[in-house]
Amino acid sequence: MKLTVVGGGSTYTPELIDGFARLRDTLPVTELVLTDPATDRLELIGALSRRILARQGHPGTITTTADLDAAVDGADAVLLQLRVGGQAARLGDETWPLDCGCVGQETTGAGGLAKALRTVPVVLDIAERVRRASPDAWIIDFTNPVGIVTRALLRAGHRAVGLCNVAIGLQRKFAALLGTDPAALHLDHVGLNHLTWETAVRRGGPDGEDVLPHLLSAHGDTIAADLRLPRPLLDRLGVFPSYYLRYYYAHDQVVREQREKPSRAAEVADMERRLLALYADPALDEKPALLAQRGGAYYSEAAVDLAAALLRGAGSRHQVVNTLNNGTLPFLPDDAVIEVPASVGPKGPSALPVSPVDPLFAGLMADVTAYEDLALEAALHGGRNQVFRALLSHPLIGQYEYADRLTDDLIAHNREHLPWA
Ligand code: G6P
Ligand code: MN
Repeated sequence: MKLTVVGGGSTYTPELIDGFARLRDTLPVTELVLTDPATDRLELIGALSRRILARQGHPGTITTTADLDAAVDGADAVLLQLRVGGQAARLGDETWPLDCGCVGQETTGAGGLAKALRTVPVVLDIAERVRRASPDAWIIDFTNPVGIVTRALLRAGHRAVGLCNVAIGLQRKFAALLGTDPAALHLDHVGLNHLTWETAVRRGGPDGEDVLPHLLSAHGDTIAADLRLPRPLLDRLGVFPSYYLRYYYAHDQVVREQREKPSRAAEVADMERRLLALYADPALDEKPALLAQRGGAYYSEAAVDLAAALLRGAGSRHQVVNTLNNGTLPFLPDDAVIEVPASVGPKGPSALPVSPVDPLFAGLMADVTAYEDLALEAALHGGRNQVFRALLSHPLIGQYEYADRLTDDLIAHNREHLPWA
């Protein structure tokens, strides 16, 4: 089984390799290819990755190449984990929206649109090359904004599934609070990527007993502190929002904080410098603890589980993925991409039925779905007016004066990545 990681030079890659090594019974990878245009980094990460496999006695091989076409040739699955423009572009996404009093975030609001515009054309080009070299390969997309990128891939007819670690992270957190095995918990997870709510936490499977009320009464304070939202808000919602909902429910508070604190991009850039220094040590043969401070905890486990289900019909029967709505949420268009539990097998994911959604959450999902549609139009066709329409539609922007100014700022800060600008 051959797996290719596009963006293999990422400092995150050792997390992924560690997952492949630990979970080799679930997913027996024989050949791993890391590809990245940044060859210095790629060689460094490739060497550490080989040491991680060797330490764990994994028989698979790791090759590195900057040649994307060679890398994806004959692959069974291709993982996309790239960041167009790197942390520098992310720093922009997190800062220029603040001048308008809007949240500065790499996947939410105006920054998220900028990221979509930079990323969609690059990912579509990669996917075309995957299709040419390996028409049956599955594309597993971690590249943000996952909802919009997956929608772009599916609209172009690719065999693609979008993946995020928010659900698997919550499953682990709830299991730890309950003192139970994560695999025993099924989350009724509903929404769009980075806009999700857990409406039930079931023991034993999709029809199991809902322990969310117990989690809320026994551990509500811990969960609220983790989300940095007030406990009474959780009580009133009666469900657990993901931490990305804080950008909506506490938008102005977040903006005040962001104006005072160093950006996450700056923190991550510093962490990356330290990680690369650690990776250069030939004695290091495991993922360092510092990597756990990145947001992507457990993403390797989600990736292994998903690839195992797609390629072998193995792994967990139900997984939270980003896939086509196709009537699952009746208030959204069929071609929307939603993030819900699905039954996943070699034919791809098939969303499980979802209980009726409270209008309090459905309304926001519908607004953001419309925004994602307009964002994709802007990413595919370019043009100032398309960007303006996407920003005006976003529930965190909505006013024409802001949308106009943010359009200009977005274009000014991203010109080198936008061929039409
Ligand atoms: C979470 C999200 C990812 C995102 C990451 C950012 O894992 O699900 O989509 O990329 O956080 O983490 P970072 O360490 O880069 O801030
Ligand atoms: Mn994510």
